[in-house]
Amino acid sequence: MSFCFYSPIKNFNIRALYRNCFLDKLTVNWNGTMADAIEVKDLTKYYADFLAVDHVSFQVKQGEIFGFLGPNGAGKTTTAKMLTGQTKPSSGTLMVAGLDMLRQPVEAKSSIGVVPENSNVYDEMSAWDNLIFAAQLYRVPKNEREKKAKELLELFGLYERRRDREGVFSKGMKRRLTIAAALVHTPRLLFLDEPTSGLDVQSSRMIRKLVKDLNQTDVTVFLTTHYIEEADQLCQRVAMINKGKIVALDGPQKLKASVDMHQIVEVSFDQTKDLESKLASLRDIEKVGQFGDKFKLHFKSTSESISTIVDFAKENDLKIVSINTLNPSLEDVFVELTGLSAEVMKTEKEQGKKAANLG
Ligand SMILES: Nc1ncnc2c1ncn2[C@@H]1O[C@H](COP(=O)(O)OP(=O)(O)OP(=O)(O)O)[C@@H](O)[C@H]1O
Ligand SMILES: [Mg+2]
Repeated sequence: MSFCFYSPIKNFNIRALYRNCFLDKLTVNWNGTMADAIEVKDLTKYYADFLAVDHVSFQVKQGEIFGFLGPNGAGKTTTAKMLTGQTKPSSGTLMVAGLDMLRQPVEAKSSIGVVPENSNVYDEMSAWDNLIFAAQLYRVPKNEREKKAKELLELFGLYERRRDREGVFSKGMKRRLTIAAALVHTPRLLFLDEPTSGLDVQSSRMIRKLVKDLNQTDVTVFLTTHYIEEADQLCQRVAMINKGKIVALDGPQKLKASVDMHQIVEVSFDQTKDLESKLASLRDIEKVGQFGDKFKLHFKSTSESISTIVDFAKENDLKIVSINTLNPSLEDVFVELTGLSAEVMKTEKEQGKKAANLG
């Protein structure tokens, strides 16, 4: 038996797993058009007097990866819990996989896969027993359960460790098992709450690849994250949520284009001493940030930024080591729209999250 903690996902063939599972299950409207995978109107959640989710409305199209991006406490998990029937909204309506989660919760829940923020598999049970149990819960026919469990464990690189208790698994393995358990009934709509949070680079990559592969077999994914780059890399559309409200919703490129009114220049000189404050007084400058030996300069207009920097270098007897004009990043969009520093997204709830990385 192999004890490699981060064994790669072998024979990664999610297509085979989902073969022929979907075509007959697509949700179609009365007029023949494809229904949205999720449709939310004015969804609101109070915890006592505290407004955690504030009248959010959005649709998730079938077949997309939809990102719900926001800092700690923004209301991501609360929204995901309402969408998956784990908590009732205070008001608002929600249709999930073409079903009303409030009126038809049993049917709606059985047509979705849920990977919660905190794992819902049992740590005293083996990986194998966890999957068989999940298959029973989701009423997978008895004669298919073992085949499904084997396929999923192989797919997720856990088959060799199938007899081990979940409790002895590494974080990455636990997360993979949790995702595998959410897929036993081959749902077309998958909810992932911070799937890579707290994982090492390799495990995070593996899970992102899995999400992409699932999506290529037409699985719609609702993904909450506080990793801006994760949303940028994976999602066709992203809703930015802050203090319970959606502050922007669009494709990552469109969101970036929406703040394309500034010129951002990244420059490094042969020295850095006292330069930040001097650069801040340049003509047309809006903001300066120092990142290691580089300065990121936000100019109000695009026309003369480079010549201004070259003149500044001459006047201060500095050599320019590198200079690049930058397009706005999703991080710039977030900062612009929320007024928060991008650092708040990096504030971690737990030590382990600091190990997470993007690749
Ligand atoms: N059961 C609860 N009772 C009271 N307040 C709650 C409860 N669950 C969440 N909250 C509060 O609602 C707000 C939103 O919490 P939520 O867990 O949805 O945020 P989040 O965006 O998922 O944050 P994180 O990135 O930390 O996971 C927070 O202020 C939180 O303290
Ligand atoms: Mg959360």
